[in-house]
Amino acid sequence: MKKLFAVLFFALLPTLSFAAEHGPELEQVDIDVSDKAAMQDGARTFANYCMGCHSAKFQRYERVADDLGIPHDLMLDKLVFTGAKIGDHMSIGMQPADAKAWFGAAPPDLTLVARVRGTDWLYGYLRSFYEDPARPWGVNNKVFPNVGMPNVLAGLQGRQVIGCKQVQVVENGKKQYDPLTGSPLTHEGCDQLTVLPKTGSLNEEQFDEKVKNLVTFLAYSANPVKLQHQRIGTYVLLYLAFFFVFAYLLKREYWKDVH
Ligand code: HEC
Repeated sequence: MKKLFAVLFFALLPTLSFAAEHGPELEQVDIDVSDKAAMQDGARTFANYCMGCHSAKFQRYERVADDLGIPHDLMLDKLVFTGAKIGDHMSIGMQPADAKAWFGAAPPDLTLVARVRGTDWLYGYLRSFYEDPARPWGVNNKVFPNVGMPNVLAGLQGRQVIGCKQVQVVENGKKQYDPLTGSPLTHEGCDQLTVLPKTGSLNEEQFDEKVKNLVTFLAYSANPVKLQHQRIGTYVLLYLAFFFVFAYLLKREYWKDVH
């Protein structure tokens, strides 16, 4: 019995340590790495807004073009700004030492970032920059406090500020309502992000979609064989179903005289 407790204790230890970890609550985002249109849009955003500083050097342009259904000439024309060839890795010219001097930290390669951070974290991070004059780039981030990265998507999102506003009380992930009147229960929260209206080229819904597409691309990039796995899995199941029929017929044949 004691042994069982010990085993249970160690088995549960990792969950306990996760529970103790504290950070801002992350919204869950539903990422579909078979949605090619989303990934194409994400790849375009990545090339236009991220590759100035971040590489994806474990990935080749050609592979991305083929996986996402982008013709090679279109890929070279619209997504490659470094003069790279279609078979080249998605690397960039910025030197880590320069980057460290400019930003305080070198922008990491993003090929595998979706595996390291998770898609919810990325989706939260890219939407959580807010104005903070005390920081070198005039922005801070709720998900990654005091980050060295400027808010490169500000032109799309608009100016986001942090401040106090009435927010609905949420307990255990459920919005709370007054049991008598049915109206939402609110409290004042002072770390609330608000986008100033008409300061960005996209509205909130469009911006969230843009970021979701970008995160979908990063999720694909971190695990490009996932698409293949799904396809191979289907073939394996079809093969097994097909094989089963013959196995069954054979079994019937063998057992015919035994009964
Ligand atoms: C002007 C340069 C620059 C651009 C452009 C830029 N970043 Fe960054 N990014 C940085 C720097 C610098 C850091 C490191 C910050 C730190 O550690 O404080 C960083 C960090 C990150 C991180 C955190 C990585 C980690 O795990 O610590 C992610 C994710 C990220 N960037 C995504 C993006 C995406 C997506 C884009 C395009 C929309 C982008 N960045 C555009 C400079 C940039």
